[in-house]
Amino acid sequence: MVTRKRIEKKDVRDKVRILAIETSCDETAVAILEVGKRKGKDVSLIVKKNLVSSQIPIHQKYGGVVPEVAARTHVPETVALLTEALGRRGLDAFDAIAVTSGPGLATALRVGVEAARMLAFLSEKPLIGVNHLEGHIASAWLDPKNRARWEFPLLALVVSGGHTELVLMKDFCSYRIVGETRDDAAGEAFDKSAKLMGLPYPGGPEIAKLALSGDPEAIPLPRPMLKDPGLDMSFSGLKTAVRVAWESWKTVSEERRAQTRKDLAASVQQAIVDVLVEKTLRAVKKYHVKGVLLVGGVSANLVLRETLEARLHEVFPDIAFLPSDKKYITDNAAMIAAAGSWHLKKGESRDWRKLDANPEWNL
Ligand code: KG4
Ligand code: ZN
Repeated sequence: MVTRKRIEKKDVRDKVRILAIETSCDETAVAILEVGKRKGKDVSLIVKKNLVSSQIPIHQKYGGVVPEVAARTHVPETVALLTEALGRRGLDAFDAIAVTSGPGLATALRVGVEAARMLAFLSEKPLIGVNHLEGHIASAWLDPKNRARWEFPLLALVVSGGHTELVLMKDFCSYRIVGETRDDAAGEAFDKSAKLMGLPYPGGPEIAKLALSGDPEAIPLPRPMLKDPGLDMSFSGLKTAVRVAWESWKTVSEERRAQTRKDLAASVQQAIVDVLVEKTLRAVKKYHVKGVLLVGGVSANLVLRETLEARLHEVFPDIAFLPSDKKYITDNAAMIAAAGSWHLKKGESRDWRKLDANPEWNL
């Protein structure tokens, strides 16, 4: 009993709380992550706050994200979420600050970056600029089951609204893009196909919902670059094929059109999943990785999650499948704090005068 108490006391003394801010696109997010340390090693991760204010309802009426509207909305939302997260403790509520500084919408990113710089100046605490994609990768680290099986080298399939990348990770903070889309991202392919079919923004979840009662083999669609032996992908041709298929059904009865929409949704989803899964398996084989991360907004897609897990299990039974923790799939700041904790551990931080938003930042 006495021993347990002593250890608990030491844990408390060694904790580091990271405040994180994310404003790269259409979600304003603030989080506080507490990393418990013992003898210099991370022993626990506790997400103390995870506040997300989504702008989806605002952008829905435009059919997509309007950068100027996003940036303007981030300003009051960032202040409100920071006020709530910091509470009465104010600047004492955290020990370091992490902020998404790229890639993303230039003016939107700047809102979070300026807030973080101001907090770093006032608090005199370390500031870390985090790459948004690295944040998505770190979302898998937030799941304790994944942390238990985390062994390098790892391969991350990063699939979001703006990015589709296969990333080889040899260590924390060490990334090499080994495959990527040459045009549209997977999320974009979902969103654009949905728009063509008259579905609201964001289209990914809408397509996934409709696909539940559709036939994935009903409408033949291309699997772009699947036959190409490399690891790059392409999704823009799919959008054209969807347009042609949908237009050709314009004149049929309302009832048949409703079923066609479901079949087309299931077929598009299947085409995207087939390409992503096949390219991932190829990369696993090429780089002899020990685990595969599946992260980014599109990783919420159940067919993608299940197919990738099943195929990995079938072809590479010893490789760990490490999908993003379901709570942290879409944009949030807890994942930015987790990535920030990796950099903090390496002793990396930025002078607040030198950190700037970098909209084109490659991982
Ligand atoms: O990572 P994220 O939240 O934001 C970016 O960084 O882009 O990803 C958003 C993307 C959107 O394209 C959205 O349609 C897609 O993730 N998405 C999905 C699903 N849920 C979100 N795509 C397919 N199936 C889903 N269930
Ligand atoms: Zn994202």
